[in-house]
Amino acid sequence: MGVDIIVGLDIGTTKICAVVGEVRPEGLEIIGMGSHPSEGLRKGVVINIENTVDSIKAAIEEAETMAGCEIGSVYAGIAGGHIEGVNKPGVIALKEKEVTKKDIERVIETASAVAVPMDREVIHTLVQEFIVDDQDGIVDPLGMSGVRLEAKVHIVTGAVTSAQNIIKCANRAGLDVYDIVLESLASSEAVLSKEERNLGAALIDFGGGTTDLALFSKGAIKHTSVLALGGDNLTYDIAVGLRTPKLEAEKIKIKYGAALSSMIGKDETIEVPGVGGRSPRTLSRQILGEILEPRVEEIFTLIYEELVQSGYDELASSGVVVTGGSAELPGISEMAEQIFSAPARVGYPQDVDGLVDLINKPMYATAVGLVLYGAKTYKQKKKFRIRDSNIFHLVMARMKRWFKDIV
Ligand SMILES: Nc1ncnc2c1ncn2[C@@H]1O[C@H](COP(=O)(O)OP(=O)(O)OP(=O)(O)O)[C@@H](O)[C@H]1O
Ligand SMILES: [Mg+2]
Repeated sequence: MGVDIIVGLDIGTTKICAVVGEVRPEGLEIIGMGSHPSEGLRKGVVINIENTVDSIKAAIEEAETMAGCEIGSVYAGIAGGHIEGVNKPGVIALKEKEVTKKDIERVIETASAVAVPMDREVIHTLVQEFIVDDQDGIVDPLGMSGVRLEAKVHIVTGAVTSAQNIIKCANRAGLDVYDIVLESLASSEAVLSKEERNLGAALIDFGGGTTDLALFSKGAIKHTSVLALGGDNLTYDIAVGLRTPKLEAEKIKIKYGAALSSMIGKDETIEVPGVGGRSPRTLSRQILGEILEPRVEEIFTLIYEELVQSGYDELASSGVVVTGGSAELPGISEMAEQIFSAPARVGYPQDVDGLVDLINKPMYATAVGLVLYGAKTYKQKKKFRIRDSNIFHLVMARMKRWFKDIV
């Protein structure tokens, strides 16, 4: 019997990253990874197929060489401003006065029977809790006695075209897509502990093009959202503020950047290369703090407002975990603590063995999380292989089912 290999493909705005994991009885072992700059995306969404395919191929080839195996299928991430998450309840009467497997399926289907527009697709239906008669907070109601079963679900939808483009790119790079997974959900698999998910935690994936939020409580997801601002905006602000090309601004940000001005010494200086034959300039490093702090504050404040609007801001008070490449900015957890009035930390991928040194960075949380998500779901789930030609039919089939339920 062959070993089970799971591959996560994170198609990000700044890099495309493939992580290969081997499922073992004692846990997941990372056996390979490849990362390549991404040039075909804007704000988390594919805008150039050809460039994206090339980057996927490069990342996959690198991962294949390291893992010593051929990659044929992947779990791919999805993000972008088109993603929406809503909470829905569903109720059914229990015919047998005892909850059966069929009842559980039926109540989830009822809760998911929302009218999704034709141009949107359901990416996840995540169960938050079951309620049998008046007993709430039930994780698994199978076999319980009662007359009424209620399910609360979180439904994540996204633009069909965005999902199609991800699949198209993967297919053209020679890959099947086992499943499409919300990037923040994947990241949370890699960086949140079980305890954090239970007590309540806000996961913030502060990437290059987007900043994603996923809120957890009692082991379930309560709220998700995607903000179309990220580390690229910080780089752009530096480029404008210091009048330097973006490539230089990016280097300066990574070498000298900080999320809080107060963390920078008064007499620290930075060297900014001259443009067009002009000589380099020496500036106070404080300027960088003055440029970056307000932008990070703006991004975190928008996320906080989103939380308040969702009505779940209380839940985040037990903890905020910031991950994604921009989480490496010094002072990021201090800034998060100020804005969210909650303890905060930077999230590194955990719960894996093998090549841990290679993936031990916040920017690899999504790719590692996709592997963890795959490892958790591939046995129980119907394995559908999404191919270009049949995704539309697949979506149509799902829709027809809901419409049938509604009428
Ligand atoms: N040491 C660092 N300090 C500050 N910023 C950093 C550092 N390392 C990486 N970044 C920033 O992190 C961002 C990339 O993060 P990440 O790899 O998580 O994004 P992505 O997954 O490609 O994009 P997205 O998820 O938004 O589509 C870039 O803006 C980059 O400048
Ligand atoms: Mg990302």
